Amino acid sequence: MKKKYVFAGASQRMLGMFALPMKNEFANEVELCGVYDINPGRADYVAKRCEMPAFYDFDEMLNTVKPDVVLVTTVDAYHSDYIIRSLEAGCDVVTEKPMTIDAKRCKDILDAEKKSGHKVTVTFNYRYAPFTTKIKEIIDSGILGDVFSVHFEWLLDRNMSYGAHGTSYFRRWNSRMAKSGGLLVHKSTHHFDMINWWIGQKPMKVSAFGKLNLYGAEGSKKYADGMRGTNCRNCEFADKCQFYYKLSDFEKEFYAANEDKDGYIKDNCIYADDIDIYDTMSLNVSYDNGTMMTYSLNATCAYEGWRVAINGSKGRLEAFLPETGPEVNPVYDAIKFYDLQGNVTEYRVTKAKGGHGGGDVRLRKMLFLENVPDPMGHAAGTMAGAESIMIGAAANVSIKEGRIVDIWELLGE
Ligand SMILES: NC(=O)c1ccc[n+]([C@@H]2O[C@H](COP(=O)([O-])OP(=O)(O)OC[C@H]3O[C@@H](n4cnc5c(N)ncnc54)[C@H](O)[C@@H]3O)[C@@H](O)[C@H]2O)c1
Repeated sequence: MKKKYVFAGASQRMLGMFALPMKNEFANEVELCGVYDINPGRADYVAKRCEMPAFYDFDEMLNTVKPDVVLVTTVDAYHSDYIIRSLEAGCDVVTEKPMTIDAKRCKDILDAEKKSGHKVTVTFNYRYAPFTTKIKEIIDSGILGDVFSVHFEWLLDRNMSYGAHGTSYFRRWNSRMAKSGGLLVHKSTHHFDMINWWIGQKPMKVSAFGKLNLYGAEGSKKYADGMRGTNCRNCEFADKCQFYYKLSDFEKEFYAANEDKDGYIKDNCIYADDIDIYDTMSLNVSYDNGTMMTYSLNATCAYEGWRVAINGSKGRLEAFLPETGPEVNPVYDAIKFYDLQGNVTEYRVTKAKGGHGGGDVRLRKMLFLENVPDPMGHAAGTMAGAESIMIGAAANVSIKEGRIVDIWELLGE
């Protein structure tokens, strides 16, 4: 029987990752029964494109439709509210990452799930990418032995000709701590989840540093001769600013045409005063089995991509995945294993089609098809959601208070 789905949040991600593919590719498995958003214009837009009703009241949608599953696809800070209300209404939940943004909301979700007897799935799409999966397979084979340390670096680029993905986080709600938890939650939840999943250990303690270098008011003073506006569309520095951003036709229709209803501006100035997240972050994590992790995230980089090195009792694994820039390999990406006798084994993983290294396509199959085998444990629930966001939440506390933070103490466990 088809499952009834509704959506909390008419977002770009909701449309591209879920609603349109569900309508076009999973019509035998799912029924799209409604979408709610605080902005009626955006709810109407996706309702029309996906041929389902728009609701302007979330409880009314739950009461009218009585869905099997609520897909939570709104701004990060509001995930917990919709997850908990959906569980209390007797629904299962699929939530976009990050599961939530801080310890209090995380604990509330864990408690609500236990109480309800229903299930929350967290959509960690990066786990499903063939490249990421191969790293898990290599570690699980035992070839590295015991994992002693992980060194992980993620670069977000600022090059407009590559799309300036790193810069894009500073144009809208993502750039406010209260909405996203900062990049150590909003973005790093992906990375922490991959690492936790690869090594199969629980993160325990975190110490971190973070700084806003390039964006915000200080960035404007130091690196842009004090240039700042309100938004790119009507900025007097449009011709001079290296980060000038032109809205696409979709963005004009979906965001700009509806901004009078809630003030959500898609092309805010990246030098705005009230940007309060960091663009440069580094941290250390200790795990329950003794592994140590060093991690850095930087949103001011020349190109986009990531590197990981994992040292074990029997050797070292290195992987590098450039996503933009001169070193992108259009055919394959490589993982190397160095044994202790001086030999190197290279594993080549063919580039996969689809968003997030091929992770999106595979995740959708896992979510919407029945009885998909899951021998490597790709599917993620609330504990994985908690263990990844709590590294970021603990790092935020560590940066603010200048101390090592115990994740489980912060969570009140
Ligand atoms: N897994 C991934 O790779 C990935 C990629 C992109 C985004 N995401 C996640 O998807 C979600 C949506 O991100 P996006 O950038 O597509 O969003 P978006 O900015 O396109 O849309 C957010 C929507 O939330 C609505 N909204 C704001 N406050 C609300 C509230 N209180 N209640 C209900 N709706 C509210 C806004 O009106 C807007 O329509 C986020 O959680 C984000 O972290 C995940």
